[in-house]
Amino acid sequence: MVRKAALVVIVLLVTATPARAGTGSFQARDDIGSFRARDVIGSFRARDVIGGDVAGAGRFPWAVRLSMGCGGALTAPRVVLTAGHCAGPSGPNTRITVTAGATDLKARSAITVRSVAVFRSPDFVTETSGDDWAVIRLDRELAVPTLPITRENVDTGEFTVMGWGQTRETALRQERRLHYATVPAIPDKQCAAAYRKFGVKLVEDESICAGRHGVDTCQGDSGGPMVGRDRSGRWTQIGIVSWGLGCARDGYFGVYTQIAKFRAEIEEATSRFS
Ligand code: ARG
Repeated sequence: MVRKAALVVIVLLVTATPARAGTGSFQARDDIGSFRARDVIGSFRARDVIGGDVAGAGRFPWAVRLSMGCGGALTAPRVVLTAGHCAGPSGPNTRITVTAGATDLKARSAITVRSVAVFRSPDFVTETSGDDWAVIRLDRELAVPTLPITRENVDTGEFTVMGWGQTRETALRQERRLHYATVPAIPDKQCAAAYRKFGVKLVEDESICAGRHGVDTCQGDSGGPMVGRDRSGRWTQIGIVSWGLGCARDGYFGVYTQIAKFRAEIEEATSRFS
């Protein structure tokens, strides 16, 4: 019973639905936002993503913004990889607007395209239960660099995370400019122990936890890429922003889909949509 109540609370705090922000308005969804503003504990001021920096023009060129208030990355010229909880069910879908080719969503170089279809992991239920990935087919190919998926199952070290989401847990606002931060991966056991107290069971082998007090992704960053450098120094995608208890809190970490676990499925879905 207590466990169930705790689960309800955490599900509300981690947003089952992403912040509804059009690329035009940059407003987080009010109902969830104000709930959070009233109920969060320990809010504090920090900088960007949370505790990060603004990405200059041309940086992370494969990062895209999705109109439901999420992020994503171009895995192929016509395919975006995002979180399952951002994308909706598999099938035809022309409702998503994708903004690509600019870190500043209002830059003249920003390109907008529409979705035509979604393929979401058939095992997806909710973001805290793993399998939180989906691919979106665009209405055309983009002449924008793509981001390869990791060939190695790495889950230790430091990674770069990014998004146009909230820069504070209570910000209730999305950003016009892409923000990024470097975060250390946290051992699954330590992360799982923290979330267990809230009645949430971390799906350890499908998740990478990362962050530190004051540095994290936040609402509206979901679906965006967690990246690292491969052996030749090129960015490769390691994770997808999925969920967390609040943002950047002491002892609680951002949870990312460990995409190495889904590499074959993601690549198959990507080539079908290309
Ligand atoms: N679920 C959120 C979204 O839809 C992402 C939350 C990430 N939270 C965190 N503490 N890292 O945007």
